[in-house]
Amino acid sequence: MESASPLQISSAFIWRRVHSLMGFWLVLYLILHLITNSQAALWMGNDGAGFVRMVNALESLPYLHVVEVILIGVPLAIHLVWGIKRTLEARSNVVSLKYERNIAYSLQRLTSWILTVGIIGHVVQMRFLEMPKQVEVNGQEQSMVILNVDDGLYPLALRLGVTLQDSEKPNQVVAVADSPGKAMLLMLRATFKSPLYAVLYTIFLLAAAFHAFNGFWTFLVTWGVILSYRSQKAMIPVCMIGVAVLAFLGLAAIWGSYWK
Ligand code: HEM
Repeated sequence: MESASPLQISSAFIWRRVHSLMGFWLVLYLILHLITNSQAALWMGNDGAGFVRMVNALESLPYLHVVEVILIGVPLAIHLVWGIKRTLEARSNVVSLKYERNIAYSLQRLTSWILTVGIIGHVVQMRFLEMPKQVEVNGQEQSMVILNVDDGLYPLALRLGVTLQDSEKPNQVVAVADSPGKAMLLMLRATFKSPLYAVLYTIFLLAAAFHAFNGFWTFLVTWGVILSYRSQKAMIPVCMIGVAVLAFLGLAAIWGSYWK
């Protein structure tokens, strides 16, 4: 345990506050991320038109990768590293004292582990392994992605104006799209067509929705926004509505793609 003189602020205190601010920033990002993804649910938008528009707008930003690293990568890394330290130090007493806030404390730690594994897997899969590639065909920028074939793919590709070409594997095709948004929509849809991925992403999403809004509640306590017992109690249902809204947005993207 570090001790600090009255005029000194301990580094543990500063880290705790930085971790908290980064957590809040990630909540804002998660809301935007899930609003965008919910547009991919084919039954909500016109063949995912909203998703395609939002992705194309993002992809057209200058220095996108630098912006992504600074605005998402760095805050996430700081929150994750300090979060793992806190999670390893945590002492749960939920077995002996089954109070609501004790259960929430333990769930915040459990969801930390699910998120650590989930976020690493999600980034490796969607940012690196399955990310559409930009290629030049007849002097035009095109986005290419390899997809598993299913019955609905051909009519959807036709409506989107995406060309499907044979690949080396019989159950796969190469999609060539005139925009990154369309290729990403098809990549996302192909991922969630797999029951295994649909279930894994459902667990990941529910963990993220709970962690974000239970975390938002503790964030408000950390920064002294809700100090009285009454205000803390009143804020619980508000945060639970936040959990439900995030869960709905994410589930719409996953299961909308799975069923349609
Ligand atoms: C979608 C990604 C994430 C979001 C939106 C998020 C958000 C938050 C928020 C808002 C808090 C509350 C901060 C406070 O009490 O002041 C929090 C707390 C916490 N987060 Fe995250 N977080 C995410 C990912 C992670 C990951 C990957 C870990 C990995 C270990 C983690 C570990 C923790 C821990 C241990 C706490 C509790 C800190 C405490 O009570 O002292 N978080 N998170």
